[in-house]
Amino acid sequence: MTAQKIDGKAYAADLRERITKAVTGLSVQPCLAVVLVGDDPASHVYVKNKIKFTKETGMRSVEHRLPANASQDDVINIVRSLNADDNIDGILVQLPLPKGLDSDSVIAQIDPAKDVDGLTDVSAGRLSLGQTGLRPCTPTGCVMLAKDQLGNLSGKHCVVIGRSILVGKPAALLFLEQNCTVTIAHSRTKNIDSICREADILIAAVGRPNMVKADWIKDGACVIDVGINRISNPERPGKTMLVGDVDYNQAITIAGSVTPVPGGVGPMTIACLLRNTVIAACYRRGMAVPDILNF
Ligand code: GUN
Repeated sequence: MTAQKIDGKAYAADLRERITKAVTGLSVQPCLAVVLVGDDPASHVYVKNKIKFTKETGMRSVEHRLPANASQDDVINIVRSLNADDNIDGILVQLPLPKGLDSDSVIAQIDPAKDVDGLTDVSAGRLSLGQTGLRPCTPTGCVMLAKDQLGNLSGKHCVVIGRSILVGKPAALLFLEQNCTVTIAHSRTKNIDSICREADILIAAVGRPNMVKADWIKDGACVIDVGINRISNPERPGKTMLVGDVDYNQAITIAGSVTPVPGGVGPMTIACLLRNTVIAACYRRGMAVPDILNF
């Protein structure tokens, strides 16, 4: 059997179309503010795409760039001014911050009502309590792709490899919210391969290139690869390439469906950020979230 390649790029494009329709139907134009500190090339590319897609979906985009030697107070003062600005619906501080800056204390300053990354303690608390709120983007994208493949996820066994604040932990809670049976595996887990082999849905979010092999995967499972690892390209000396945490060529021989890297989960993160911006704009004004954004 050969697995289906899950086209995250196409799903994300469809979601952006739905967001555009939702924005057109609103009485306000949501606005996303992005804060970028320093010169990390990957962060610059991510931010450029976030701004481009914010505008393409009909929303307003505000950008604040600070030099790599900006102080903690410089960053916090920008976040506070964005909190106070009623025209701003969402605040995203691009991570990682340059060395010497403490991202936790910057994130702690973000008004939870504008926390479109879903990273504040209030957002994390609301997720764990099962209350409505702004959910982290990448894990939400994973749930969307799994539902698109499998339909109702109730009763499915979801194994999440990784327990990070950004992906692993919230992914486990989001799949629990879908009535999955959830197992979290991590670096100290014993017999990790046999645990993964029990999964109907396998989420790999550890940052170890090609770690998940064919014999970790149950026949027909839905495999979602969150890893983005840059390694040297064995076929082109001196060049690098991006690979996930899943050995894709092995996975497609056994899984039912697999996300590629790139083109799987990656595009979903930005689309979910835009979706959260619309949701934040609605929540802040006591407006209903448009049904078209449901999944
Ligand atoms: N850097 C890489 N991914 C992300 C993300 O989802 N949010 C933020 N704020 N920074 C990132």
